[in-house]
Amino acid sequence: MRRGGFTSQTAALAARKQALAESREQFAGRTWTVASHPSVGSASWHNHSMSLTLIELDRPPGERFWLPFTYEEAGLGFNHGWWYGRPVYPHSQRIILRVLDNLDEVARVELDDEVGIDHYAEVPPLGATALEIQFIEVHNDHRGRGIGRAVIGLLRSRYPDRRLVAFSEGADGFWSSLGWRRHLHANPDDALRFRPLFIQPEA
Ligand SMILES: CC(C)(COP(=O)(O)OP(=O)(O)OC[C@H]1O[C@@H](n2cnc3c(N)ncnc32)[C@H](O)[C@@H]1OP(=O)(O)O)[C@@H](O)C(=O)NCCC(=O)NCCS
Repeated sequence: MRRGGFTSQTAALAARKQALAESREQFAGRTWTVASHPSVGSASWHNHSMSLTLIELDRPPGERFWLPFTYEEAGLGFNHGWWYGRPVYPHSQRIILRVLDNLDEVARVELDDEVGIDHYAEVPPLGATALEIQFIEVHNDHRGRGIGRAVIGLLRSRYPDRRLVAFSEGADGFWSSLGWRRHLHANPDDALRFRPLFIQPEA
């Protein structure tokens, strides 16, 4: 059993690497597209050891219940429950992104264009400029290397006219380290029940 499980994980990993390689070469196939903002799509972000590229996944034409990740790949180094089982419907405002370091998928991001933050205290009037980071996850093996911070930098470049916001799921230290301001629910009775909201500072 164990051997079979390992083999299927290895096969899934090999298949995913192959798919990532093909996506790099076959953008014309429109399976995934490089995010079109020039500072993201081409230049990406790099330091001595990493070169990160943000790839926005495309809904396959005609697919109503789109699952951006296959069952097997959803959990390979990531939290399976976050990335599998929630279809993206045609009129959804969700945006799904992969982050590659060469051919390794090192992070995933889900954005949501439908944002409600007015029930939080002292929030600035962001209106339609608000863009929520619904999920961000760095691959298990790659945490603590600056990738999360770099991904936020890429998102800032990709969406220069937006203000990113995030409801922290036990990651207050991460958002605070970026200089984002923390807000609590406006009703003090709910402040401990609701996740803290973090808002990207003005550029
Ligand atoms: C939170 C997460 C995205 C951070 O990514 P990362 O690549 O590990 O973070 P970085 O290496 O870029 O760290 C940037 C800063 O955040 C801090 N930080 C990172 N994760 C932290 C955490 N969980 N708690 C407190 N501080 C954290 C780091 O110490 C670093 O601070 P510094 O620059 O002052 O040294 C990653 O740990 C992750 O995927 N966690 C599981 C999913 C999750 O919690 N997502 C957030 C949901 S709101």
